[in-house]
Amino acid sequence: MNSKKMALLLLLIIPTILSAQKSVIIPQPVSVQFTTGNCVIDKNTALKFNKTDIALQEAAVFFKSVINTISGIELPNNVVKNKSIEFKFINNAELGDEGYLLHITPTSIQIAANKKAGLIYGMQSLFQTLPVIQTNAALIIPCMEIKDYPRFKWRGMHLDVSRHFFGPQFVKEYINLLASYKMNIFHWHLVDDTGWRIEIKKYPLLAQVGAWRVDETDKVWGDRPQAKQGEAPTYGGYYTQEQIKDIIKYAAERNVTIVPEIEMPGHVASAIAAYPALSCTQVPQLPLTGGDYTGMSSNYCAGNDSVFLFLQNVLTEVINLFPSKYIHIGGDEVDKAPWHKCAKCQARIKREGLKNEDELQSYFIRRIEKFIVNKHRQTIGWDEILEGGLAPEATVMSWRGEAGGIQAAKMNHNVVMTPGNPLYFDQYQAGPEGEPTAIGGMSTLKKVYDYDPIPKELNETEAKYVLGAQANLWAEYITTPQHATYMVLPRMLALAEDVWSPKQSKNWQSFNERLQHQFKGFEQRGLNFCYGNFTVDIKPVSENGKLSVTLFTEILNGKIYYTTDGSLPTTESLKYAASIPVSASTVIKAVTVLNGKVMGLKPAEQSFVMHKAIGKNVIYTNPVSKYYMADGPNSLTDGVRGTYAVGKFWHGFSEEDMIATIDLGEEKNVTSISLGCLQHYKDWIFMPSAVKYEISLDGKTFTILQTINNTVSVEDRNSVIKDFTATFAGQNAKFIRVTATNTVCPKGHPGEGKPSWIFADEIIVN
Ligand code: ACM
Ligand code: ZN
Repeated sequence: MNSKKMALLLLLIIPTILSAQKSVIIPQPVSVQFTTGNCVIDKNTALKFNKTDIALQEAAVFFKSVINTISGIELPNNVVKNKSIEFKFINNAELGDEGYLLHITPTSIQIAANKKAGLIYGMQSLFQTLPVIQTNAALIIPCMEIKDYPRFKWRGMHLDVSRHFFGPQFVKEYINLLASYKMNIFHWHLVDDTGWRIEIKKYPLLAQVGAWRVDETDKVWGDRPQAKQGEAPTYGGYYTQEQIKDIIKYAAERNVTIVPEIEMPGHVASAIAAYPALSCTQVPQLPLTGGDYTGMSSNYCAGNDSVFLFLQNVLTEVINLFPSKYIHIGGDEVDKAPWHKCAKCQARIKREGLKNEDELQSYFIRRIEKFIVNKHRQTIGWDEILEGGLAPEATVMSWRGEAGGIQAAKMNHNVVMTPGNPLYFDQYQAGPEGEPTAIGGMSTLKKVYDYDPIPKELNETEAKYVLGAQANLWAEYITTPQHATYMVLPRMLALAEDVWSPKQSKNWQSFNERLQHQFKGFEQRGLNFCYGNFTVDIKPVSENGKLSVTLFTEILNGKIYYTTDGSLPTTESLKYAASIPVSASTVIKAVTVLNGKVMGLKPAEQSFVMHKAIGKNVIYTNPVSKYYMADGPNSLTDGVRGTYAVGKFWHGFSEEDMIATIDLGEEKNVTSISLGCLQHYKDWIFMPSAVKYEISLDGKTFTILQTINNTVSVEDRNSVIKDFTATFAGQNAKFIRVTATNTVCPKGHPGEGKPSWIFADEIIVN
């Protein structure tokens, strides 16, 4: 073979060899191209940088310390060796403030960026390809070229240190984890009812009193009794200003900005415990121990000028400590009842010409915003700050879904998206069987991965106001650092890809393959994390009047086995290949099988019923809540039974009765009618007090057949599913009307006397 032919052959072969090489980096860079060979970092590798540049010096210090932790190697600076690692600044508009170029050959590594942030991110990409703890393994990196920069500039993670106090060491570990995946905002929730966590020199009691509560950690949040006079407040802690400075410096070295949250005007029972004059009633109280607010003041008085003076003094110290452009002032979940009863608050409403208590909250936030803007900073708050009018320059953090964010973006205000589902990482990520008790909900890795921070409701101009997205870790149910990492890993990695990688490059399969490498790293470092959601997703699909079911597992290389006869699925059961038609009443049970083993504690399960009203139109006298639409308008006649998951397959009705009329299309002989209902005490969902069944031939004149009364106790705190079934001698009917009578939340319930919900899944006609 002549050399020309040989070169041609190589050209043909090399690309196939190279494409077999896969990146392990999360989040996926903008572009990665592998070239031939490897580079080995060892003691014959020297750092190269312009040592008169302080930023380059700092970047080199960071790089050396990480390499030293991994391998024990001390890399020399600026000496001639046979290999070099160079850091340098360039001028490349495409890369922006945080982008980088990483170029690796067998004898050199070069990281180039416009700013130090980009250099740090180039290093993070490099570190992800290395072994992660002190080993004797060689530090081998495949040769490659990366060009990379983020899609969004707000890539946030939050931590609630009030419900559980996480010490400074863990806070640093958490920040380091964020930084490893190029997250750049740490939202530090420093203030809440159950603990004030930041030293304020002018008001020492905030830390001395407000940071300490009676220890009820062994009990579930909602069951913790309130503190009694004389009990010792032994649980808690706070960060001194010196500790905070140290943490800010640590974060800055990793390009993480800390956004402090100083809650107001609600969620401040801890501050009121320290200084009772801050509340409307001014009655002394002890810091809250958990979720029982009975008799507690948790809001500042909005009518008292000395409250604003206090907050300005607090914010002055906060602003002097934190370099962040944004100061988070909370604003969520204000119980406005005390303001209604307070003479000072009412006088303020009158004096300022405000319409109501919503506008009083808006006044509060505007007044604080003015102070913050005067200090050359910007306010950010939860989406309730929209109520009663948004402060002129405020940024909105949208947590009650995306609606607040959409509204604010359309008003030309900046927005950070953090919708409860999927971005509240205190929700379950798997199971829920076998998982540590969580606040509720289900936000799986796949749901997080599929999230796009830009809602489809926004046009291109409005979308520019979306700064990015953030996940929140509320700590009511999280009482150890190990539990915190478990909730964050690996969901944060999926979020990192949502906010960093180009939208078109996202790929669930590729992400999961890269994730396996990260899992090894977590194992090596002894980090507690979740291997994934083994529960099979059972999805009913109705098309052209036919019902079928698709099954899906989130687990990479997981296989699905299922049964339709009620038995427990095993590896001997039916193996899922394509969607399953459903033509008779049945129950599908399904499991994920990995490496020949059934995974998870309990199979996923879904029941289907076939009956005479399937596919028929349902007319509602009172509308279905837009929040609980299940599969759409005919959910009560789709054959799909509800499960104990509140968000799935249930139609919700609030305050009013459910009155549903079915048009069977022709006269049919009917011998039984049944309505399926759910009771879910914690979510204010109760059985209807009674269900009335009526039939008609003309749709105008109805005859009452039967009324079935509820037999489920309103005190039952377990989830209960019940069919209200009427059976009777055969009747001819063309129309069926079902009336389920709504009630109110029972005595002793947090919503006592307030409207409850009815949840219904199916009207079964036979
Ligand atoms: C929130 O979850 N209350 C912001
Ligand atoms: Zn007041």
